[in-house]
Amino acid sequence: MSNLYKLVYTSSRRPDCGEAEVEKILASCRVNNPKKNITGILLHSKHRFLQYLEGDKDEIMRLFSYVKKDSRHGGVNLRYYSPIKERVFPSWQMGYKDLNKNSLVFQTTISEKDQAIFEKLIQDEDQNEVEGIRVLKLFFEMA
Ligand SMILES: Cc1cc2nc3c(=O)[nH]c(=O)nc-3n(C[C@H](O)[C@H](O)[C@H](O)COP(=O)(O)O)c2cc1C
Repeated sequence: MSNLYKLVYTSSRRPDCGEAEVEKILASCRVNNPKKNITGILLHSKHRFLQYLEGDKDEIMRLFSYVKKDSRHGGVNLRYYSPIKERVFPSWQMGYKDLNKNSLVFQTTISEKDQAIFEKLIQDEDQNEVEGIRVLKLFFEMA
């Protein structure tokens, strides 16, 4: 039986968490998340993080339980932890909002097909809107 869940949280990026630290987080995600079959996205702006994780219920909670203790952010606010029928995000990705173009910039290798899916999700053109996407938008408004 499938135990597929989504977990979404937002947090505040610590002022001393510079670009080099974000690069390190990205490196950890790249190595660890695919091994656990975790997909989703980590978005960051100057002051905020938003992470959307999908995968096995226990795996994503285990990941969240140590990520929330990471000193590079604070004020971690769990927004969703609920079952889903299927994955929304096709792969694991990390990106940031390009404030000038109001679009996502991907920091990970991403196929054109996946990129199109992400952009569509962000722009909310998809009919199957999920709550998580509303949180993504909220993040963009805060950025
Ligand atoms: C906002 C934020 C999100 C993070 N997301 C992940 C993640 O999805 N996967 C992960 O392995 N580590 C993530 N980390 C880093 C972990 O807290 C931890 O440093 C890392 O998993 C250590 O693993 P490593 O020793 O293999 O690099 C995140 C950290 C922060 C601050």
